Amino acid sequence: MKMWAGRFQKEIDREVNDFNSSISFDKRLYRQDITGSLAHAAMLSEQGIITKDEAAEISRGLLEIMAEIEADDSILSADAEDIHMNVEALLTQKIGDTGKKLHTARSRNDQVALDMRMYAREETKNIRAEVLKLLSALVKLAGEHTSTVMPGYTHLQRAQPITFSHHLMAYAQMFMRDVTRLNDAYARMDEMPLGSGALAASTFPINRESVAKKLGFSDITKNSLDGVSDRDYLLELTSAISIIMMHLSRFSEEVILWCSSEFSFIELDDAYSTGSSIMPQKKNPDIAELVRGKTGRVYGSLIALLTMMKGLPLAYNKDMQEDKESFFDAADTVKMCLSIFTPMLETMRVKADNMRKAASGGFTNATDCADYLAKKGLPFRDAYKVVGGLVHVCIERGCGLSDLTVDELKTYCPLFSDDVYDAISLDTCVGERKAMGGPAPESVKRQIEIMSGFLKAQSDIL
Ligand code: ARG
Repeated sequence: MKMWAGRFQKEIDREVNDFNSSISFDKRLYRQDITGSLAHAAMLSEQGIITKDEAAEISRGLLEIMAEIEADDSILSADAEDIHMNVEALLTQKIGDTGKKLHTARSRNDQVALDMRMYAREETKNIRAEVLKLLSALVKLAGEHTSTVMPGYTHLQRAQPITFSHHLMAYAQMFMRDVTRLNDAYARMDEMPLGSGALAASTFPINRESVAKKLGFSDITKNSLDGVSDRDYLLELTSAISIIMMHLSRFSEEVILWCSSEFSFIELDDAYSTGSSIMPQKKNPDIAELVRGKTGRVYGSLIALLTMMKGLPLAYNKDMQEDKESFFDAADTVKMCLSIFTPMLETMRVKADNMRKAASGGFTNATDCADYLAKKGLPFRDAYKVVGGLVHVCIERGCGLSDLTVDELKTYCPLFSDDVYDAISLDTCVGERKAMGGPAPESVKRQIEIMSGFLKAQSDIL
C-alpha cells in the first residue's frame, strides 16, 4: 500500500511502479537523507513542534536504520519508490506512530533538494582532493625535469624548444583553475534548502538556520520555489567536472602520442599498460585512451542535465529525478579517471634523451636564428625571410642550421658571424626564454614555486 493511498481507488500498475521508482539509484543518498532527517527532527523538537522524547525516539530509529542499510541495502524496496519514502517507511515499521511525525513541516521535494546538495558538496570535496593530488604529482615531476629539453608543438609540428617541466606546468595551470572552479561551485551550492516545503515553505514555526548550522551549511536558500527547483549547482559542478575531463583527455592524447615509437618520449609502467591478445610486441596505453573515451560520456551527462532543466515550469517536476544518474555517473567517472591518471604519471619513465633529440631536429631553432639577425639590426620580417631560405637549403641537404659554415651563412646575410652557433644552440634557445611564463629552467622554477604556494594555501580551504 502506497503512502499516498488515501486519495486513490486502486493500486499502482506494476510497470508504472518500477518506472517511477528511483530507489535503485538514489539509495546512495541514504546517509545524506538520514543525516538531514536527524537535523530536521532535532529542529522540530527545539521549536516545540514535536516533543523531545519523540525526537529522541526518531533519532534512535534513524541511526539504527543507517547502520542496517550500511550492512545490507536489500532492505530498501522499489515499492517505497525512493530513498526518502524508504527511510520513512522503515522508521515507522521500527518505532511505530512517532515515526509518522518526522515528515511534519517537510516535503520530499525539500528532502531531495537537501540530499542532493549535501551529496554534491561531498563530491566536490572528493573530486577536488583528487585534482590536488594530481597537481602535487605534476609539481614534483616538473621539479625533476626543469632542464629536460623537448620540442614544443603547434599544429603537432615541431615549433620551438621548451622544457618538459614547462609542458607539465601548463597542465598544472589548467588543473589549478579546475580547483578554483570547484571552490566557486562549492560556495554557491552551500545553501540549505530544507524548509522550502513542497514549494511554498511551511506554516509551522520552523527554524531553518538551525538546520543549516547542524548540517554545516553556511547559509539558507532565500526563496522556497527556487529552493526546491534549483539544480544550477549540479549543472555548475558537472560543467566543472566536464572541463576537468577535457583537460585529462588532452593530456591523455599526449601520453598516447608520447608512448608511440614515433615519439618515444615516455614509457608507461607495466602496471599501467595492457598487452594485445594477438600481437606479442604490443604495450598499449589503454588507461589514457579510456580517460579520453570516458570524457564523452561525462559531456553526455552535462547535456542531459541542461536539457532536462530547460523547459521545466516552477517548481518541482518529476523530470528532476533524472538529475541523479547523470550527475552520479559524471562524478564517479571523474574520480575514477583522476585516481588512476595520477599514479600512471608518477610511475612513467621519461626518455629525456629522445625528447632532446627530437628538439634538435625539425628546425626548432629557426625563430632564434631570425631573432639573432633581428637583434643585429635587420628588421624581423627580413630576418624571417633569410632564415626561411636557409631552412629550404638545409632540407635539401638533409642537415640542420648549425651545420652551415659561417662563410656560407654570410652569403645569405652579412650580419652572420661566429657567435651564431651559440645563439641557436638548443640550450640557448631554451635558456634565454626566461620571461615569466617561459620554458627556461629559471622561469619554470618560478612557476613551480608559485604553484607550490597555491597548493599550500588550498590545504586550508573546504
Ligand atoms: N525521487 C524524487 C526525485 O528524485 C524525490 C522527490 C519526489 N517528489 C515528488 N513530488 N514526487 O526527484
